[in-house]
Amino acid sequence: MVAMTDLVIISDDGPVRTVRMNRPDKKNALTLDMYDAMAAAIESAPQSPALRCLLIAGTPTGFCAGNDIGDFLKMAAGEGALGAPIIRFLHALARCELPLIAAVQGNAVGVGTTMLMHCDHVVAATDARLSTPFVALGLLPEAGSSLIAPRLMGHARAFSLLVMGRPLSAGKAQASGLVNTVVAAEVVEAEAMKAAHEIAALPQHGVLASRRLMRGSPNEIVARIDEEAELFKTRLKSAEARAALEAFMMRKR
Ligand code: COA
Repeated sequence: MVAMTDLVIISDDGPVRTVRMNRPDKKNALTLDMYDAMAAAIESAPQSPALRCLLIAGTPTGFCAGNDIGDFLKMAAGEGALGAPIIRFLHALARCELPLIAAVQGNAVGVGTTMLMHCDHVVAATDARLSTPFVALGLLPEAGSSLIAPRLMGHARAFSLLVMGRPLSAGKAQASGLVNTVVAAEVVEAEAMKAAHEIAALPQHGVLASRRLMRGSPNEIVARIDEEAELFKTRLKSAEARAALEAFMMRKR
């Protein structure tokens, strides 16, 4: 049985497991419990032999606004370490053996964007906006993105996204190789599900072996996730990060 909170909804439909971030009022900003539930859904998938791929989705209010900023402030007040559920989720993404598909509508911020770099097929709505404002927030890129993004889109485009924090529209994300298909928001999930079933209908061993060959060993990415997390600790405790994160939390009061 997969751990589930009402903030993450896991549903298996034939060969496809959907992992839905469901905190719409907070634009699906991820809490530690949400990371744990998502990690459990990914880690346990191989125990269900019927499952052939995983689909990550958000809600019509947006894909994911990144890590909960209140949680970041709590971590900053302590040792600065990213919570264990965050690392667990990132490792689960890197080590996942099944194809990962994503359906993205609205904003994908921070880990909302970097989790897409672990996916094999991303469908985005025309209104999708991908951004990673890590450096401006006093932080630095995570989830292995410092390794994956330059490989995926080339150094200059990765620098613009990860360091300068320039957002990508759906079209630009497609041109950068991060997104496969851009469709109207109303059909983004149907299109992603169609791709999931298309993959699921292929001979499974061929899919898994090809994917493994294409991705290489996950160890390099896992090591980079850990290296980034170590540096993140110091950044999270920096005065710059505290000021930027507090400014977000206080902005409407
Ligand atoms: N952590 C905690 N709360 C968040 C959040 C986050 N990452 N992102 C959004 N929220 C909350 C807002 O505080 C707001 O809460 P409130 O209704 O209690 O005031 C609610 O979600 C809606 O957000 P809002 O900013 O009003 O929505 P929007 O549509 O105008 O903007 C975003 C959406 C995603 C562009 C904007 O919320 C944003 O920039 N969020 C922060 C993203 C971020 O920097 N993440 C960390 C990356 S490292």
